[in-house]
Parts: sequence; structure tokens; C-alpha cells
Amino acid sequence: MKAPEYDLVIRNGRVIDPALGFEQEAVIFVAGGRIAGIVKESKSTKKLLDNYPEDKILDAAGMIVTPGLIDIHVHLREPGREYAETIASGCRAAAGGGFTSVCCMPNTFPVIDNQETVQFVHARAEKADARVYVIGAITKSLKGEELAEIGDLVKAGVVAISDDGNFVQNPELMRRGLEYAKMFHIPIVTHAEDKYLCGEGVMNESFESTRLGMKGRPAVGEVIAILRDIKLCEFVGGRLHVAHVSTAGGVEAIRQAKKAGIHVTAEAAPHHFTLTDDMIGVAFDTNLKVNPPVRTQKDVEAIIEGLVDGTIDCIASDHAPHAEEEKDVEFDKAPSGMLGLQTTLGLVKTQLIDKGYLSWADAVSKLAYNPARIMNLPGGTLNEGAPADITLIDPERKWTFRDKDIKSISRNSPYLGWKFSGKVAFTIAGGRIVYRGE
Ligand code: DOR
Repeated sequence: MKAPEYDLVIRNGRVIDPALGFEQEAVIFVAGGRIAGIVKESKSTKKLLDNYPEDKILDAAGMIVTPGLIDIHVHLREPGREYAETIASGCRAAAGGGFTSVCCMPNTFPVIDNQETVQFVHARAEKADARVYVIGAITKSLKGEELAEIGDLVKAGVVAISDDGNFVQNPELMRRGLEYAKMFHIPIVTHAEDKYLCGEGVMNESFESTRLGMKGRPAVGEVIAILRDIKLCEFVGGRLHVAHVSTAGGVEAIRQAKKAGIHVTAEAAPHHFTLTDDMIGVAFDTNLKVNPPVRTQKDVEAIIEGLVDGTIDCIASDHAPHAEEEKDVEFDKAPSGMLGLQTTLGLVKTQLIDKGYLSWADAVSKLAYNPARIMNLPGGTLNEGAPADITLIDPERKWTFRDKDIKSISRNSPYLGWKFSGKVAFTIAGGRIVYRGE
């Protein structure tokens, strides 16, 4: 009898797939870019595989095998700021970080607020190393004045709408945005920072901002914005997703909303569970400047608690490349944002798993399964028939993040020189190996 033809077989790895309730050694068969099967190794698989062509077998001994990671919050900068990042370079960084899918934000030049720009991004992403899903704008040019043509955007394939970078300050517009999002069964993603309270600030408002003489962005500016959008979501229905929650008060607001049965989901960015505002005065590293800003230790602890108790559904990097010359200025003049795609997994492993806050299965839920569910994306599981998007992780491998590792065009990471454990060994997208760890 002729052996079935698979394009790739991954064996000997510890497969972790929370959607399947799977955490054991298993064999994964890949054919035609999809998962053709996932089974425990048995006498018959062993017999088949021991005689299988070597170039089709990936030996994952000692590795963890997970559904391809999904980052629902990245900035790819194309069109318009290709000197900082392109879709191709951003997707190389994604693959290097173990991500097989990303959702890109619309704050490009021009803004992704019409079908042409969505189509442009899709076309550019065709040959990229990760799948790119587009988040369209809520308002035209992200100005918060007039709704974008949301129906057109949905027809062009956006998976969500957001004015990320900007809070939709006008509650009437946000209400209409929620209504459209509900009608089209997509989530609306809020960048929750009240402009009047936070607009001029360059860091968290705290003892540190006073000590450094910097204008602050108060935590209450986030809490008020989250509460308002939760109330609007309760009123309209539909699905609200809160981007990069950074404050203890924000986490609590979301916790209470979930308890009340309001359909809200939330993400945390790694910098909000690893960095604090007192780090800024050490060297005025502009790579620590981000919106919403890094907060206090108390906030960091609340974010971790929110991740642990499920208030925060997922982890998203908010990968935000900026060119060296843009960041190499005084702290208050620098643009906000930091790279994230290549350090997220290392931070999750080192700061959350190794410290006992999350299990590997929890981490995979937050980095693959939940993001897929929130954005209605294929993937997030290794179930038969799912896209063959797979991440192989060497769980205890120690590494230091160096400039030479950066796959982005920009280098604005505050984590350069940080030591991590847990390294991506292979990233496989649609059955194709798109990254091999060095
Ligand atoms: O720090 C940030 N940078 N926060 C945002 O919301 C936008 C992002 C960017 O595009 O640079």
C-alpha cells in the first residue's frame, strides 16, 4: 500500500492546543497548506514515519508545538512610512517572533479608510511571511469627525475597525461606529485615552512625571475612556475590544463589564506588564515612550492579575516601528511606540510563565486561540482542516535580544540587551517554513 503523501510531518514535539484540550506529544501531518491530522504517535505512525522521506520530517524533540501565534495589534507603516517598516519587513519580524498572522492598524499615510488602501495592503501582503488582516478606520482620516465608509471597508475584507492612536472623542460618532460594527458582526477596537485629559502628555502622570518635569497622561484618562465605551457597548450591543489596557482602573472596569455580561474583550501589550514609568528618568530612552504610557508597578501587577483571571483575553504587541532619526530627539519630541513582534514571546515566557502566572496553555490561549476568536480569524488551533500555521518553540533556550536579531527596518526597542528564555525555533505559515531560529 502506498503511504499517504504529506508535505510536512512534525513529530516528537509537545503539542499544546487549548482549543482541542491537547497537551501531549503528538504527530502533526500537513498537506496542501492545512493540518491533515494530529495524532498520538503509535506503532502505525512510527512504522510510516520511520520510512518517510527525511526532508519532509521536522523533528521537534524537546520543543513545544503550538498553533501559529496571532498578533491582533501591529503597525506596518505601509503605505506611507516605508522608511520605518514595510509590510514585508514587518511580516519578517512577525515570523521571527513566532507569529503567523497579524492585524494591522489603519494609521498609515494615506489612512486605511477606503477600499483602495485595504486592497493595497492585501496585495502587498500576498507574498509576505505572515498573513495580514486589515483593521480599517472608524472615522475618515482618523480625524474623529465623520464616519469612514464602514460597509465598503467590510466588503474589502477588514476584520475590525479602529481609530487606534486616537480615541474617538465624540460619543455620538463612537455610538454610530459601534452600530455599524454590530451590523457587520465585527469588533470595534478602542484606543481608550481621553484626549482632553491625555492629549499633551508624554508619559504617565505620576510622581515620576513631576520629578522629571514632563507633562503627564493620567490613568484616569484611560479609565474614563474605557468606561464610556463600555457604556456605549452596553447600550448598542455589538462587540467592543479594548486595545492595550495599561491601568489598574482600566482592568477593573473591564472585569466589572464582563461580570455584567457586556460583550467586551481586551488585550495587554508586553510593555505594560514589564516596564514602569520610573525607568524613563534613568536614560531618557525614547524607546520607552509609548501610548498609552508605561505606568506604575501597581498597574503592572493589575495587568498581570487581569491576564491571570481572564479579564484580559489576549496579548498583542502594539508593534510600532519608528525610524532612528525620529526617535533620536528629546523625550517629549519623540513619537510614541516601540517594536514588539520579536520580543513578545520571550517576555511572556520569561515574565509570565517562568514566574508562575500563566501556564503554557494559558499563554497559547492569549497568543493564538483568543486573538483568532476576537477577530474571527481562521487558525488559533491545530484542528484537522485548520490552516497549517504552526509555531515551534525551544522552551528553555536562553537568548539575548541584539540589534542584529532585528528583522524590522526600525530598531526602536527598549528590550535590546534583555535576556530571555524561550526561543522560536520554527515558524510555519500555510505549511511553509517562514522562519528557522538561528
Ligand atoms: O505608542 C503608540 N504608537 N501608540 C499608538 O497608539 C500608536 C502607535 C504608533 O502608531 O506609533
